[in-house]
Amino acid sequence: MKTAPIRVITTFSAGLAILAGAAAADPDADLVINDEIQIITRAEAPAHLEGALPEIRSGWTFRTRETQALQMDDFENPGFSAAEMAIEAWETAEGSAGKSCADCHGTVEEGMRGVRAVYPKWVESAGEVRTIEMQINDCRTNRMGAEEWKYIGADMVNMTALIASVSRGLPVNVAIDGPAREMWEKGKEIYYTRFGQLDMSCANCHEENYDNYIRADHLSMGMSNGFPTYRLKNTRLNALHDRFNGCIRDTRGVPFDVGSPEFVALELYVASRGNGLSVEGPSVRN
Ligand code: HEC
Ligand code: HEC
Repeated sequence: MKTAPIRVITTFSAGLAILAGAAAADPDADLVINDEIQIITRAEAPAHLEGALPEIRSGWTFRTRETQALQMDDFENPGFSAAEMAIEAWETAEGSAGKSCADCHGTVEEGMRGVRAVYPKWVESAGEVRTIEMQINDCRTNRMGAEEWKYIGADMVNMTALIASVSRGLPVNVAIDGPAREMWEKGKEIYYTRFGQLDMSCANCHEENYDNYIRADHLSMGMSNGFPTYRLKNTRLNALHDRFNGCIRDTRGVPFDVGSPEFVALELYVASRGNGLSVEGPSVRN
């Protein structure tokens, strides 16, 4: 554990201070959910991050022990209760085709295990990189004849949490080559672009300053393996694009739209930085 006295290590143009200080978290703790699902929270950095990060760490390793504990048992994890609310939607027939998700995909465990680990991915039949949300809305509109769900609305985020939950423990493994490469490059460019009045990029906080403090926040590496995430701050499940919004607003910048090609590209790139960490969603963060 670090014992260095708190000192200002970086001050950005608009005076936002980032502090190094003693960490309240236990970065070496093990995450085993329900005494059963072993989660990889630290891993070797993927080859494309060579030189950028010494290793990769889940956001869970940066949280306090109290917050960490909430994710170790599904009964304590409020995000898990939200995910369970989607089971009813999974089994309910909706739309003009009179079908439910279960009619085509079977149980969530049968139909969706492994899916969260490889998304976003290039979908050949659609000729585009898709997020899970895009796939769900495609099933709803084109296969069920039902209404689209709002991209970061509660129905959608509960469903993506349910789908993530059956992949917990599996390592994130998004493809960044072949037809997905172009979107990945675009996402990478956005990651290193400085936004807002504070003129800061994702990398300024999550690559150069992880483990330091910004205001009261202990900065993580900004990984996406835990999404959707139940945040103690707003007491609800948060979609990844919701988090991107918040991070860009923190730089006093103007975010892209949720579900926009820019955020889909950024999601693919951020996911690829976490290739090797386990899927954790729904996770608990502050
Ligand atoms: C001014 C600093 C700052 C910038 C710039 C910033 N973030 Fe963040 N971000 C935070 C803070 C603070 C948190 C909450 C604590 C943590 O997990 O780091 C956070 C959390 C996250 C998380 C959630 C991590 C988890 O485990 O739950 C993701 C993902 C993320 N940021 C992605 C991004 C992306 C992508 C960008 C660029 C568009 C970005 N951030 C820009 C400060 C920043
Ligand atoms: C009429 C049948 C049908 C219904 C109903 C349906 N889907 Fe699908 N879904 C499909 C087919 C077909 C695919 C593409 C199969 C493939 O390529 O793996 C698919 C793909 C998906 C995928 C991507 C899976 C992957 O491996 O890439 C997700 C996620 C998904 N559906 C979620 C849902 C959800 C959630 C619902 C209910 C709201 C739903 N689907 C309803 C037929 C359906």
